[in-house]
Amino acid sequence: MNEAALIEQVRKRLKDKRFKHTISVQQEALRLSRLYHCNIENASTAAILHDLCRDDSIETLNSYVKKFNLDNIYLNNKSLSHAKVAALIIQAELNISHTEVINAIAFHTTGRANMSLLEKIIFLSDMIEENRKFDGINELRELAYKDIDSACLMALDHTIKYVIEKKEYLHIDTLLARNNLIINKGGNDEHKSKCN
Ligand SMILES: [Fe+2]
Ligand SMILES: [Fe+2]
Repeated sequence: MNEAALIEQVRKRLKDKRFKHTISVQQEALRLSRLYHCNIENASTAAILHDLCRDDSIETLNSYVKKFNLDNIYLNNKSLSHAKVAALIIQAELNISHTEVINAIAFHTTGRANMSLLEKIIFLSDMIEENRKFDGINELRELAYKDIDSACLMALDHTIKYVIEKKEYLHIDTLLARNNLIINKGGNDEHKSKCN
């Protein structure tokens, strides 16, 4: 399926606002991919499809969670399930079998330890695309174009704080992603002082 056909699949399934977000994520992912020398085509495909199931009803997502035998933690949790379900749907219904693309979609919400470059790009693009607004976003945008690992760390911190504030389920992969980046980078000063 070519890019235009994929965009059409997404456009049909998403609400206008989410579709707009998706296109902005794609643009962001293309910019970051050029900077960090990631495969442009994979970045584009993953970005276009990352939120394919985000506007599905909770009932629909729950039925996919059961059909695909996903863990119960994904039941009644759209923020977590839409990523895992989309990663499975694109294989089952759109015949996409590229493992890197599938993983970038599956982990775009939580992150995970040892993320690939494409996974980092999709995770960050989702958070910094031009329609996003939250405290610290300008700093995060700037960092994304200077040091992708530090930007991922900042984005994961933001996600963890947000999830705790909202009293939502914190996925273990998000914690593992954060700790893994800190170990691999030796931590930035702020994190070092907190960890020592
Ligand atoms: Fe998403
Ligand atoms: Fe998204």
